Amino acid sequence: MGTKGKVIKCKAAVLWKPGTPMQMEEIEVAPPKATEVRVKIVAAGICGTDIGSLDNKELAQYCPIIMGHEGTGIVESVGEGVNTVKTGDKVIILGMPQCGKCNTCLNPKNNICEEIRLSPTHLVSEGNNRITCKGKMVCQYIARGTLSEYMVIKEISVAKVDEGVPLEKACIISCGFATGFGAAINSAKVTPGSSCAVFGLGGVGLSVIIGCKAAGAARIIAVDVNKDKFKKAKELGATECINPLDYSKPIQDVLFDMMNGGVDFCFEVTGLPETVATALASCHRDHGVCVIVGAIASWVQLNISSELFFSGRTLKSSVLGGWKTKDDIPKLVSDYMAKKFNLDPLITHTLTLDKVNEAVQLMKTGQCIRCVLLP
Ligand code: APR
Ligand code: ZN
Ligand code: ZN
Repeated sequence: MGTKGKVIKCKAAVLWKPGTPMQMEEIEVAPPKATEVRVKIVAAGICGTDIGSLDNKELAQYCPIIMGHEGTGIVESVGEGVNTVKTGDKVIILGMPQCGKCNTCLNPKNNICEEIRLSPTHLVSEGNNRITCKGKMVCQYIARGTLSEYMVIKEISVAKVDEGVPLEKACIISCGFATGFGAAINSAKVTPGSSCAVFGLGGVGLSVIIGCKAAGAARIIAVDVNKDKFKKAKELGATECINPLDYSKPIQDVLFDMMNGGVDFCFEVTGLPETVATALASCHRDHGVCVIVGAIASWVQLNISSELFFSGRTLKSSVLGGWKTKDDIPKLVSDYMAKKFNLDPLITHTLTLDKVNEAVQLMKTGQCIRCVLLP
């Protein structure tokens, strides 16, 4: 009595209105169509982007919606033409697709597959979705929606991982870990012996630290206004920790003096527009590179003095760590298995999916780095 070809009734955390708690509901998940895969979710992560969107009124037009874009699971069944995964495979949900055919995918320098722009309405496929609840079509956040027992997703947005992978840990590689780690490795291209400063020590900032360490940085300065974050930052590779609130002068002046003209690589990982200028000013005045990793709203204007660029600093951004997801994320999972880095300390809490609103509160109050949810 398999489930292949049948509608699956199961549980999901459904958001009916932004700014209200998610509700555990029974949903119906239709079988996958061509190029789609139905996945039984084993573990889901909550990322800063989910947290920000939960209260965003703009999301109302897509409600009811299932949030979450980090996750791992097991393929339940596949639609026509799917050949990179099969029933029973362990898979990781990719924070962005990689179709392999668009201009971006064909260019080795780029990673924002054009297919992501085809699903801005949170639908898995154009004009349609595979999930309903109480007779209503349910959207899937960024065409994902991992806060559920089952989901249907495009083949280009999942990748097979090895049988031995602990899915309840690897799920944070989907987005948060890959974003921070890749910002150091791919976007900044941190060099051995260099100095780095990381502004914001949430799950993404700490992943940047792991990346700086893996790249061989000699000094990694962790910066946060919450000193409770320092212990974990040190555990993961920070060589020193600084709280801007402890100084009377601006933190960029502190770093500039401390590092004889600035830090080689700086990372903005708070998501605050003001910190971009601070991080840029903390960079070495000639060769310093500053990477914007935190998600800053598209309508925000950055206020940066031209003087900061006069001597040659570089300011750039990084999306999902610059990884080509379908090719690279499974390799990151393999590197984790080979103990090339340890991301386990990032997971401070593990809860069952019905405690999802508790997990949101833990994130919002800064008590937790990453909370993994088990359906
Ligand atoms: N200076 C330094 N650190 C700060 C400042 C500041 N002015 N303001 C806030 N912070 C710290 C917070 O104390 C917190 O530890 O930034 C950290 C942000 O961490 P999280 O909110 O946990 O965010 P995270 O999940 O790491 O994501 C960071 O990346 O994906 C995006 O949307 C996400 O913009 C967010 C960013
Ligand atoms: Zn593509
Ligand atoms: Zn994310």
